[in-house]
Amino acid sequence: MKELSFDTNEPIVSKTDTKGRITYGNELFLRLAGYTETELLGAPHNIIRHPDMPRIVFKLLWDTVQAGREIYAYVINRAKNGDYYWVLANVTPSFDAKGNIVGYYSVRRRPTPHALSVIQPFYRELLAAEKRGGMEASAQLFEQTISQKGGRYDQFILSLQA
Ligand SMILES: Cc1cc2nc3c(=O)[nH]c(=O)nc-3n(C[C@H](O)[C@H](O)[C@H](O)COP(=O)(O)O)c2cc1C
Repeated sequence: MKELSFDTNEPIVSKTDTKGRITYGNELFLRLAGYTETELLGAPHNIIRHPDMPRIVFKLLWDTVQAGREIYAYVINRAKNGDYYWVLANVTPSFDAKGNIVGYYSVRRRPTPHALSVIQPFYRELLAAEKRGGMEASAQLFEQTISQKGGRYDQFILSLQA
């Protein structure tokens, strides 16, 4: 399994419906995923889920966007053949004229080496906690770590990228 490389300036874009089924992917998203557009459109976004991702991160992602707010998250994704790539994703809800959420939008860029050097061991610990004590244990470790870093999740995440 090798790490896939991509241009730092080009965003990786996908859109989903309210259930998280893929409704759009830009060319780079399709290339990295290694699936055809036909395979991806309509598929649940977890089609590219990597087993190294702690579940707590996706819970936070969904809780945040379903509440109408945006989130930044570091994510490792898995291509069809098992290759992988890290991203910093910005996921936002899309609204209709009445303010209802009609779907979600994700724009991803390459994380800095510094960000990865912090996030990789953090995610390994979260995953280990999850295996030991389920979501409760990983949620506890998650909150403890964020509070040690100053208490604001988004500030912590974006400070790593600076
Ligand atoms: C707009 C949007 C983009 C997403 N992008 C990814 C992604 O790139 N990789 C990923 O694993 N999950 C992504 N997710 C989260 C998935 O919907 C899903 O929650 C996650 O893969 C975990 O799958 P599971 O709940 O079946 O374990 C995205 C969700 C939304 C709404």
